[in-house]
Amino acid sequence: MTVGLTTRMTDAGPEAVAAAAQCLREGGLLGFPTETVYGLGADAANAAAIARLYQAKGRPAFNPLIAHVSDLQAAQRIARFDSQALRLAESFWPGPLTLVLPKTPDCPVADLATAGLDTVAVRVPAHPVARALLQAFGGAVVAPSANRSGHVSPTTAAHVRADLDGRIDWIVDGGPVEVGVESTIVGCFEPPMLLRPGGLPREAIERLLGRLLVSVPQDAENATAQPLAPGMLASHYAPRTPVRLRARDVRPGEALLAFGPVALPGLDNAVAVMNLSERGDLAEAATRLFGYLRALDTAGGTGIAVMPVPEHGLGEAINDRLRRAAA
Ligand code: TXA
Ligand code: MG
Repeated sequence: MTVGLTTRMTDAGPEAVAAAAQCLREGGLLGFPTETVYGLGADAANAAAIARLYQAKGRPAFNPLIAHVSDLQAAQRIARFDSQALRLAESFWPGPLTLVLPKTPDCPVADLATAGLDTVAVRVPAHPVARALLQAFGGAVVAPSANRSGHVSPTTAAHVRADLDGRIDWIVDGGPVEVGVESTIVGCFEPPMLLRPGGLPREAIERLLGRLLVSVPQDAENATAQPLAPGMLASHYAPRTPVRLRARDVRPGEALLAFGPVALPGLDNAVAVMNLSERGDLAEAATRLFGYLRALDTAGGTGIAVMPVPEHGLGEAINDRLRRAAA
């Protein structure tokens, strides 16, 4: 096991980034910021490092990883882009969009990272620290969210340390993330599929393509041995405290995760109240979601009541994560 490592935490200055890239070259495991959530990075071509990564996360090994690269050119060494995929990449990269595409014949990403699939998930992150790191490293970096498997995704370096201290080599602290939910994953198949709602709203993608994305049926996720987005296990984002959705009151012993103006029966007795966005702003809610779930999970309540969040724009990703938190 990787337990027992000394985990270094540094700032994200140029020297730290250069040294962090060297750490990746040597097979190290690195927590680093992206605009969506913090990632746990390893050299995508190094199967031994990827094996350690799965161990550190405690993640089931059938769950394939996203390869992060510095630009479209680097992505084309890994995956084959048709015209539709090119349009998506040119419009939305760098940014919170992951494309699932056929591998190139000499794709350098280790089979362990793609779980033996003939497709690969690729993204070009927008965070300046992630970009600097990928440029300094030169190759592809596989990076799941930097949390223990089944835990809430990390949006600060402190969250990464809370989950992975002693299990990884290094954490680069680039401050709190901007988006707060993971990237949107689109399967570039015919027809194109929304494999995971995320930081880029579905509507923006559909507008660009001039067609609707096919949704993955909710119950298909766990039904087959090799689901389309195998990481979408129903209980993926679970706090330990039971989560109650679409709450219209606060019951005795519960903490409240609010959205918008709050005037609920039982509010006065809430163990704790955190508001995703008083003004009902979905982008603000996304940045706060995982941090507030973590905080309310330790507030000592018997449950977390969650007020309804509208389903449009970033609300689709927020509600997806909330449903998983409640599963
Ligand atoms: O925002 C993000 O995407 C973050 C940051 C760190 O970049 N990463 C992230 O990775 O959320 P992870 O490992 O937590 O989620 C990756 C998702 C999983 O649901 C996995 O099943 C799916 O991508 N995936 C990876 N390769 C795939 C493939 N070839 N086909 C279908 N789904 C794939
Ligand atoms: Mg994750």
